[in-house]
Formats: sequence, structure tokens, C-alpha cells
Amino acid sequence: MTMARLRRLLLIFSLSLLKHEFPGALGGSSPSAAKTLVWGPGLEPNVVLPARFFYIQAVDTKGSNFTTSPGEKAFEVNIVSPTEQFTRIWVQVLDRQDGSFVVRYRMYATYPDLHIHILHKNKPVCFCLGPVYHEGCNCPQPSGDLWEKHMKCPGSFAQIDKDLSVFNSLDPDLISTEVPVRFGQRQSLCHYTIKNNKVYVKTFGEHVGFRIFMDAILLSITRKVLLPDIEFFVNLGDWPLEKRKSTDKIHPILSWCGSNNTRDIVMPTYDLTESVLETMGRYVSLDMMSVQANTGPPWHQKNFSAFWRGRDSRQERLELVKLSRAHPQMLDAAFTNFFFFKHDESLYGPLVKHVSFFDFFKYKYQINIDGTVAAYRMPYLLAGDSVVLKQDSGYYEHFYSQLQPWEHYIPIRADLGDLLEKIQWAKDHDEEARRISQKGQQFARNHLMGDMVFCYYYKLFQKYAELQVTEPKVREGMELVEQPTDDLFPCYCQRTGSNTVVI
Ligand SMILES: *[C@@H]1O[C@H](CO)[C@@H](O)[C@H](O)[C@H]1NC(C)=O
Ligand SMILES: *[C@@H]1O[C@H](CO)[C@@H](O)[C@H](O)[C@H]1NC(C)=O
Ligand SMILES: *[C@@H]1O[C@H](CO)[C@@H](O)[C@H](O)[C@H]1NC(C)=O
Repeated sequence: MTMARLRRLLLIFSLSLLKHEFPGALGGSSPSAAKTLVWGPGLEPNVVLPARFFYIQAVDTKGSNFTTSPGEKAFEVNIVSPTEQFTRIWVQVLDRQDGSFVVRYRMYATYPDLHIHILHKNKPVCFCLGPVYHEGCNCPQPSGDLWEKHMKCPGSFAQIDKDLSVFNSLDPDLISTEVPVRFGQRQSLCHYTIKNNKVYVKTFGEHVGFRIFMDAILLSITRKVLLPDIEFFVNLGDWPLEKRKSTDKIHPILSWCGSNNTRDIVMPTYDLTESVLETMGRYVSLDMMSVQANTGPPWHQKNFSAFWRGRDSRQERLELVKLSRAHPQMLDAAFTNFFFFKHDESLYGPLVKHVSFFDFFKYKYQINIDGTVAAYRMPYLLAGDSVVLKQDSGYYEHFYSQLQPWEHYIPIRADLGDLLEKIQWAKDHDEEARRISQKGQQFARNHLMGDMVFCYYYKLFQKYAELQVTEPKVREGMELVEQPTDDLFPCYCQRTGSNTVVI
């Protein structure tokens, strides 16, 4: 965590209470109300996220951070709006088992005066936020700069700068005719225009179901902040498309996965995006917050075999399972599904039952190996507290360029030739392996949470817009993507001036 993100907020208790509650002998073993740290975007009224969240770090009376759980019930959180008769807010306090907690809450309505009460030993401390809009409220912040400031977005993302560096300028008039000609027949694409913060789309190709993820994030962002007018193509398929060399004429295509020999502009994967939008929603149970509360036994109690489950979407995955059958003590890898290759049970064993992702973290060593493209489980694997062994790969997600081998993960060769050797290394260097695991986890906590995913999209659209040399237009055949209507919990959007929120 950077210091800028850390907001030290004193929990205010009366001294007599402190004396009363924390007798000297127990002083070191119970969190100190005055020293405990609370910070995060969920305490900032101007941040609107599908699931809002903040952190609590338990600190003892001597000022030392807890590094193990102070107990599940150490802190209780109630969130209310005193002026309302009913509040529909779902709150969860997730114990990360390392002395810190993620508190997340999803609001189903907008509240004029939101109060967060953190209870420690039944004494509440209030963070009184004032008005807070909910995810469904269509109330964009007119100033992108201000929105970024509230969100604490980084000034730049190196991957975005790199992806856009091959374009001197972007001409929507040209792109809108050339891209469908090059890719529109054989690929599944969405052509989007955002004009006056409204989203328009035209699809190309047969398999356009994945469009729902892109529609959803665009609608969500435009409810929160005014986007510049912008026109672009999104590739709905797995594989990146733009294979031309940078010396040739390149077309800008936004894709969920990048590769070493293509020039697509990479976005957070639909999987990560969806999990951010649907956190605490109905359909998603695996997300970047839930995984932090389900990291299995502590490091020293984890099983020291390497672990992998998945389907047969690539040759190396077959090799992995064969290796596991030859070295069951080192590596437990098995298929839960067969789809691409002929299933030869004598070689690849019987299919095994699906294992909950959270149960992966019973094992110390997690293998990340490409599927069709990059394996989109990487953010969740990093967020756990096992160490990730990552296959070298030409495919990447939007954040891979920020990861360092031996710092955030243990590298393995693309052909897996050194996998057993690397597992053995990890077993022989337990403390180092553990440190790598913690660095990876820290990276995920700092860079892959929902606020950063929104920042990434916003920055990408903003930088892309700056390169446009003709006016983005609503083209023939485009349809308006409507904001969902929320009849049950309408919100009254009133932003006066640039700074204040009035409801
Ligand atoms: C205590 O925890 C906070 C929040 O995670 C962190 O910023 C700080 O560096 C930690 N302090 C020490 C001494 O480790
Ligand atoms: C660790 O996991 C392996 C592979 O799943 C299993 O064979 C072994 O019995 C486990 N070891 C312990 C100590 O549970
Ligand atoms: C892809 O590029 C990255 C970064 O330059 C490099 O580390 C990696 O080895 C390359 N992998 C493959 C398989 O081409």
C-alpha cells in the first residue's frame, strides 16, 4: 500500500473506556482502538463503485500491526442512513487472517447521509459520509480530473502508453470503415461510439454474446463520470487480432488479452471486469475480495504439493497432467473437463470433480498455465496466499507487464521443462517462496481491485480520445445501449459546481 492511499483515522474512544477495556496484561493481544487503521475508497463519499470497500488493519496498544487474525468478531460494521426508515445495504467484514480486514458493502439505493459505524467492543465509531450515490444511479461526475482524483487513479498506466504508442493519431472516420472490412466478416466485433456520454453499438459477426460484458462496463462508467466522445472497436473473441508489424498500417482493436506478436490494445479481461461489476451480486462468488477472505490454512499448514485444475484447452495442459501422474508427490494436476482433445484416460486420467477455487489455497504452490489464451485466473491466484508458478507465455493481461519474475511469481518455461525443478526450488527455499507469495498478494491488493479496474478503463478511453483527429460519430446501424431503469430505487442526481454532491 502506498502512503497516499493510507488514511490514518483514529478511532476515538474515551480514555476511561480504553483503560476499562484493555487491562495492561492483555494490552498486547487486543487491537487498540486508538491505533487501529482504517482507510480505503469506501470511506470516500465521491467514489461510486458496484461494491464499495475499505480496509481495517488491527494494531495493538504498542503500535504494532497484528499479523494474524484478532478474531472474526473483532470489528463489527453497521452502515445506515439515519434519515431513512429502511436502508438496503449489504455489508460483509472479510477477515484476511493477516491482521487486516476488507469491509465491503453494496448499496441498492442512493442515500442522502450515509453513516458507517465501526464497532469495536461494542463502542461505535462513525464515519459520516454525507450523500453517497449507488452503482445504479446515473449521475456522472462532469469533471474527469476530479473523478480520477476522488478515485485516486494513478497518473498513467505503462501498458496503455505502450499500446497506444504505435498510433500517431486515430481517425474515427477511416477506422469505422476499414476495421469492418478487415475483421468484420470473420471475427466477432463490437463497434462502439460514446457520444455525449451515451453508448451506441453495432455488432459484427455471429458470436456476439460477450458483448454484455462490454456494454455493462461502459454503462457503469458513464453513470459515474463523463467520458470524452470516443469511437472504437472491441474484439469479442479470445485471440488478439492485429498481427501487422508496427511499420505497416495498424488498426486499433481493444481486446481482453494481448500477445507478444499482436498489437491489440489490452483491457482488463471480461472475467475480472464482470467480477468487479457483480461483486456481492447474485451470480459471482469468486471476486477479488471474496478470494482474500478464503485463502485456506496459513502458509506453514498448507500442503506442499503444487496444484492445478482446469480443462484441456492447450497441449501444455495435457503435459502438465501427465507430469502429475508421473510425480504425484510433487504435483496434483487433473482435468475437470474435456473439450478440445480426445480424452484418453490411460494418459490423462479420469476427470475429477470440480474443486472450489478457494480450496486451491490448501496448497502452497499454484500453477498458472495458458488456456486458449492467458489464464484469466491469474488475478485471483495472486490474491491468495500461495505462491504462483507462472508459465512463460506470449499472452498477457493488462497488468502482466507490472509483474516481475522471482518477485511476484516463480517463472516456469513455456514447455514446462523446468516445472519440477522449480517446485523443488520452492520447497527448498520456503522463506523465499513465501516472500514471493506475499509480494504477489500485495500486488493484487494494490493494483487489481475494482477501483483500479475502473481507473484503467477510464484512462484508456481518455488517452485514446486524445489521439482522435476526427469527430466520433453515431454511425448508420448503431443502436443506443440503454441504461437500466431502476424504478424501485430511483436517484435524484444533482451535482452542483464541480465538487459537491447534493441529493
Ligand atoms: C501496518 O499496516 C499498514 C496497513 O496495511 C501498513 O501500511 C504499515 O506499513 C504497517 N506497518 C508496519 C510497521 O508494518
Ligand atoms: C497433499 O496433497 C497431495 C496431492 O493432492 C496428497 O497426495 C497428499 O496426501 C497431501 N498431503 C497431506 C499431508 O495431506
Ligand atoms: C513475451 O514477451 C515477454 C516480455 O517481453 C517476455 O518476457 C516473454 O518471454 C515473451 N514470451 C514468449 C513466449 O514469447
